Amino acid sequence: MAKSSAAMNGTLRQYGLLDAPFSISPDPRFLYLSRQHHLALSKIRYVIDNRQGLAVLYGDVGHGKSTLLRRIYDIYKEDSDFETILITNPDLPSEMQLLKRITDSFGLDRKRSKLDQMIELESYLVTQYAQGKNVLMLIDEAQMMVGGMFELVRQITNFESHSAKLIQIVLSGQNNLRNKLKLKKPLLSRAAAVATIDPFTHDETQEMIEFRLTVAGRKEPLFEPEAIDEVYEVTKGVPREVVKTCMDAITIATINNLKMIPKEAVQRARTE
Ligand SMILES: Nc1ncnc2c1ncn2[C@@H]1O[C@H](COP(=O)(O)OP(=O)(O)OP(=O)(O)O)[C@@H](O)[C@H]1O
Ligand SMILES: [Mg+2]
Repeated sequence: MAKSSAAMNGTLRQYGLLDAPFSISPDPRFLYLSRQHHLALSKIRYVIDNRQGLAVLYGDVGHGKSTLLRRIYDIYKEDSDFETILITNPDLPSEMQLLKRITDSFGLDRKRSKLDQMIELESYLVTQYAQGKNVLMLIDEAQMMVGGMFELVRQITNFESHSAKLIQIVLSGQNNLRNKLKLKKPLLSRAAAVATIDPFTHDETQEMIEFRLTVAGRKEPLFEPEAIDEVYEVTKGVPREVVKTCMDAITIATINNLKMIPKEAVQRARTE
């Protein structure tokens, strides 16, 4: 449902909102952490902070992987003890291209052969380690990786001192990644933590909606309780669906000059 920003601003004001509460951009201010999100975040942070090497994050389409990964990126990007990169799209033609994407992101020189490029990467990691720095690489959409790319990641996880991994890697991907990694036992067996994000429960869906409204400036409830039940019913707690449904329900309520969002607005949001 496309709206001009002027119309959107009018809608926002009408509901006491300073910001769009249900934009689908991955703005970290709107990240609501459910119990499962907290668990996934702490498992992954444990691996990173303790130089355990590899962590894997699974979740189906729209469950919030990229949003969580961006939060992790923001946390470590701020930390001067870390060198952190985020690869958002490993859909590349070859493992050499992936290696170049990685070394470019760290600002390293390009080399002609894979071997030389790996040596360049290792010497960078050794230097960082000697300076007391931890290096972190986050790869989103990892289900797009193919064949030799998994072997490349395995080789990179092999860079270690006598007691610690020189680089920490987080692979995040849709459930298809689970199937791919099952066939890559040498890599999967190195994962120090595996975390999954499932859709929200009913109560978490409600909390997420209320949380986002509060962040956007609304002080009182906006959705009637039956409307929240309906959002959960139609979205089954999948975050992206929740966000889209709530946004459309607000638009419908605006057109009809409603003060609160009723169940019917949610139903219409799903059918129009
Ligand atoms: N924990 C959360 N709290 C609030 N909003 C969330 C949360 N997780 C996801 N969202 C919202 O849902 C949308 C979809 O999330 P995201 O893009 O992170 O999913 P994804 O798992 O990466 O999807 P895909 O598999 O398509 O890449 C986000 O734009 C964000 O607005
Ligand atoms: Mg994503």
